[in-house]
Amino acid sequence: MIGLIGGTGAVGRTAAQRIAAYGLGPLRLGGRDLAGAAHLAGALPGTAHAVRVDLNDPAELAAFCDGCRIVVNCAGPTYQVLDTVARAAFAVGADYVDIGGELAAKDALTGRDVPGDRTAVFSAGVMPGLSGLLPRLLAKGRPLRRLDVYVGGAAVFTPLSAVDALLTRGPRFGVPMTAWRDGQVAPNTLAPLHQVRLPGFPVPVHAWPYLTTEAQTLAVDTGADEVRSYNVFVSNRLPEALAEAWAEVPDTSPAALAPHADAVVRASRQDNADFGAFYVMLFTGRPRPGAPPGPTRVLLTAVDSYALSGVVMALATRAVLAGSVPPGVHLAAEVLDPDATAAALHDDPLVQDLAVE
Ligand SMILES: NC(=O)c1ccc[n+]([C@@H]2O[C@H](COP(=O)([O-])OP(=O)(O)OC[C@H]3O[C@@H](n4cnc5c(N)ncnc54)[C@H](OP(=O)(O)O)[C@@H]3O)[C@@H](O)[C@H]2O)c1
Repeated sequence: MIGLIGGTGAVGRTAAQRIAAYGLGPLRLGGRDLAGAAHLAGALPGTAHAVRVDLNDPAELAAFCDGCRIVVNCAGPTYQVLDTVARAAFAVGADYVDIGGELAAKDALTGRDVPGDRTAVFSAGVMPGLSGLLPRLLAKGRPLRRLDVYVGGAAVFTPLSAVDALLTRGPRFGVPMTAWRDGQVAPNTLAPLHQVRLPGFPVPVHAWPYLTTEAQTLAVDTGADEVRSYNVFVSNRLPEALAEAWAEVPDTSPAALAPHADAVVRASRQDNADFGAFYVMLFTGRPRPGAPPGPTRVLLTAVDSYALSGVVMALATRAVLAGSVPPGVHLAAEVLDPDATAAALHDDPLVQDLAVE
């Protein structure tokens, strides 16, 4: 049994559809709205049924996980959920896949909390997730002189992802205006790029430097001399909405930041109205002189980043069930196979184009 929490959401709906289409096993779909989950269950191929669960209710969560081989969590806000659902999954001997969590969730689980043979994969979406995985295609067998990451577009934020965007602040997540140079974080070395034309992006964009912890791990793992990582927006509305909220709320308390989510959603709606929906992931790599030949650019384009995250969740679930992820607690970018993931994405109808060249 595969237990999927949040299957009626923007990410979860596609995760449920792909898990069912891959034939990975019967699905137990959970959320607070039982009727919504039951409706989804009825529309999926294969066996699926709905069970009410509020992940904040320990008894309901334990009952939901009971009997599952793996629990897949697409509900958020991920930086509040952290290790809550993972612990409930481990308690019944199940493996675990989560749409978010990052280092904060990984670090919340010490070795003692994880049964020896169980596996958890956090941050199995587009960003974090693919943003730290696909650039590895450029660094196979050769260190890079420079690696650039540009990810973004014009997606309407769901209220939950707006809360998560507000919560991803501080050194546990990333450092603005900062590059990675020669083995360390190089603070205040980059500036925003305004109205730039970038390959794959249909309009001039604003690229804001943000060296995520995921990009820092990428730099270490690939041995790149320099990494520049940018969040890309079609206007300055979203960076301004986030900056205004952070100026008003100096701490990272979810309760204090949540009321600002509306302004973030509104800004994303305006961007979407002006530019339509698109999402681009552009990675460029320059090898060191004398390095063996290989690809220098990965470019993925899609319409819907949430649905794309659902595909990544299903691929991570398939990888764990197939035994291709070792026991322990991992982040998707560090443990999924970049080639196998790229091949599956290339064939997925939700990916408009994926070129490794
Ligand atoms: N890593 C990435 O690249 C990436 C990309 C997109 C989104 N995300 C994150 O993924 C999460 C989901 O985003 P979304 O846009 O799919 O949200 P959404 O459309 O609002 O869907 C949320 C889903 O979770 C369920 N849910 C919410 N609270 C719950 C609770 N307390 N207990 C059980 N189920 C609950 C909802 O069902 P009910 O209302 O019926 O409970 C719904 O099915 C967010 O935290 C977002 O930041 C990550």
